[in-house]
Amino acid sequence: MTAENKISKVQELVYEIRVGDVMKKNVITVGPQDRMSEFGKILREKRISGTPVVDQGRLMGVISIDDFIRWLAERQEDCPVERKMTKNVRTLYADEPAVQAVNKFDQLGFGRFVVIDRRDEKLVGIITKGDIIEGLLKKLEVDYYDEQTNHRTIQSFFDDVLADKAALFFQYSVTGHDFNKAGETASRIKTTLKRLGIAPQIVRRVAIATYEAEMNLIIYTEGGEIRVRVEPHKILVRVEDSGPGIPDIEKALQPGYSTAPEWVRELGFGAGMGLQNIRKCTSKMGLMSVVGKGTQLRMNISLDDGVASETN
Ligand SMILES: Nc1ncnc2c1ncn2[C@@H]1O[C@H](COP(=O)(O)OP(=O)(O)OP(=O)(O)O)[C@@H](O)[C@H]1O
Ligand SMILES: [Mg+2]
Repeated sequence: MTAENKISKVQELVYEIRVGDVMKKNVITVGPQDRMSEFGKILREKRISGTPVVDQGRLMGVISIDDFIRWLAERQEDCPVERKMTKNVRTLYADEPAVQAVNKFDQLGFGRFVVIDRRDEKLVGIITKGDIIEGLLKKLEVDYYDEQTNHRTIQSFFDDVLADKAALFFQYSVTGHDFNKAGETASRIKTTLKRLGIAPQIVRRVAIATYEAEMNLIIYTEGGEIRVRVEPHKILVRVEDSGPGIPDIEKALQPGYSTAPEWVRELGFGAGMGLQNIRKCTSKMGLMSVVGKGTQLRMNISLDDGVASETN
């Protein structure tokens, strides 16, 4: 299986998932005879930017906050929403694959689509870009730990799906000196990569390398971040902390060199082999550090190599 095949599992899902699987079903609607003033109240109360206009289940149009603002600006009398709504509504059928929605979002630049049933054309839901990504991630059972990362990830992921690149980002925080959680992040990364369908030997390499990096964060720093980016041809990992920094990188990279205190050695660490191990597991690695500022370790694991290069 090629690297593209492995990653394209994500893209496959965009074809498998139906619009109806991921859309929001509880849609707030207004009737064609409802007044603009009432619609304004709904916008404020429900904090939404528009609603479908529905008459006995049938979609008559959509009315948005833009229509409302225009109506306000015109200072016209209160009127039924059907006079201000957009009648030519772009819709999706619930049984269409999500990829159709992705393409239409891209082509038309709309934020959301109304979803209707193919048989009776009745409104069944509403769908946004976020709903599709949420559905995809649920299918992949990818776990997230931080709201902000989640948001950023979803946006970048969406962009990459559109660009046919399908990259994924994951970010984890590691707390310094917390031996109770030692290895937890590496094991989460491992689970995630497995679920993405990455080859076992690659998963193993990333797991070992991130484990060593995580342990160094726990032992030598106040903590830091591990960021993983899965691209079609490679996995990039960036590990960053904000100190104390490494005074002599050459030395730190030498096998057997360790500054681990005795009590850490008693726990079984401090053989001075961690960075060496990382080097062996990755296709490329870079270590940068400024004393008093922090350390940044970058690794690149190629998905194309059968075996990661032992040198470099
Ligand atoms: N993020 C970091 N911040 C500060 N110092 C670090 C960091 N990572 C590594 N070091 C320094 O580099 C040395 C070598 O690290 P390496 O991971 O290779 O071995 P170790 O952690 O000492 O032992 P082992 O990983 O075999 O348990 C460490 O002893 C430490 O002095
Ligand atoms: Mg180490």
